[in-house]
Amino acid sequence: MRGSHPRSAILGTGSELPSRVITNAALERLVDTSDQWITTRTGIKERRVLEEGKGTADMAYRAAVRALKDAGMEAKDLDAIIMGTVTPDYPFPSSACVLENMLGARKVFSFDVNAACSGFLNALAIADSLVRTGMIRHALVVGSDALSRMLNWKDRTTCILFGDGAGAVVVGPSHDGARGILSTRLRTDGSHVKTLYVPAGGSLKPASAESVRKNEHTIAMNGKEVFKIAVRSMDGISREALDEADVSIDQVSLVIPHQANLRIITALAERLKVPMSKVMVNLDRYGNTSAASVPVALDEARKEGRIQRGDIVLLNAFGAGFAWGAAVIRF
Ligand code: COA
Repeated sequence: MRGSHPRSAILGTGSELPSRVITNAALERLVDTSDQWITTRTGIKERRVLEEGKGTADMAYRAAVRALKDAGMEAKDLDAIIMGTVTPDYPFPSSACVLENMLGARKVFSFDVNAACSGFLNALAIADSLVRTGMIRHALVVGSDALSRMLNWKDRTTCILFGDGAGAVVVGPSHDGARGILSTRLRTDGSHVKTLYVPAGGSLKPASAESVRKNEHTIAMNGKEVFKIAVRSMDGISREALDEADVSIDQVSLVIPHQANLRIITALAERLKVPMSKVMVNLDRYGNTSAASVPVALDEARKEGRIQRGDIVLLNAFGAGFAWGAAVIRF
């Protein structure tokens, strides 16, 4: 329950997409696929890929600088940096610590959250709690992933889906009690660990010449199973978040769903009874950018003028774990 603590709010947003574009036509040259198949089955037309020699924190840095500027703040004003990512620069330490150093933030604690495509929503919920309890005042919340680094570019069932990017928001106390984060809901179901995972490269099966030869350091997925459960789960958690916020779906101006597949998004909109005109879609340009997907779409929606003061926005995401979540925010 929310209790009597003051609300937290999103004070600024920013995003970063790498400049290198991989079109469906380019993928036709790599695997047995077609622009037509990818477009009709997923809605994706192109995606971005991070240049070699750069890591997740490099993208996060650019998104963070923009979010801080948008909030009218500097890195020295931050108390915490929380990054949703499953593609950190190093196995350890966290990319949040790498980002902290890039930003020159000196009075913070920083950590990564591993909740795959739901990582940003998990990080946002943690920041919201820390601000509301008074433990911190301002947090930088980031979703940054470079899933291109974990793709088997010979597997047509996965390599067409994902792209790289980063989104960031600054969270702090709401200046106006009515505005801010109204609710957050998170969930996991660990019985589906192997439905979407990277089999090797962790402690159970460390990277070896054999694991690399077998491509076990790349994403393995049962796409059909993910599809089915994603729609059901994002519908359920969205309703829970709306109930907790005491907001009806008709009061929501914009839904910003995780950008995995246009068919997942339209099925979700149907279940929620929301017209597609009230649903943010940018996966045609970026594909599934994992933890970056929701904050990038949020930043673009604001820049396009699709979120006005007082508007209520519903965010939701679903990914490996399975892990999923939703948040309701009044801007
Ligand atoms: N190009 C052409 N054909 C392809 C293909 C591609 N890139 N990928 C798969 N196919 C083929 C399959 O081999 C299959 O052929 P078959 O009928 O001869 O066996 C056929 O297309 C249908 O495959 P299927 O897996 O049934 O397609 P689908 O409609 O379920 O779409 C996904 C596949 C992956 C696009 C879809 O299941 C999906 O998006 N799932 C969710 C995945 C996801 O979002 N993961 C991340 C969650 S955060």
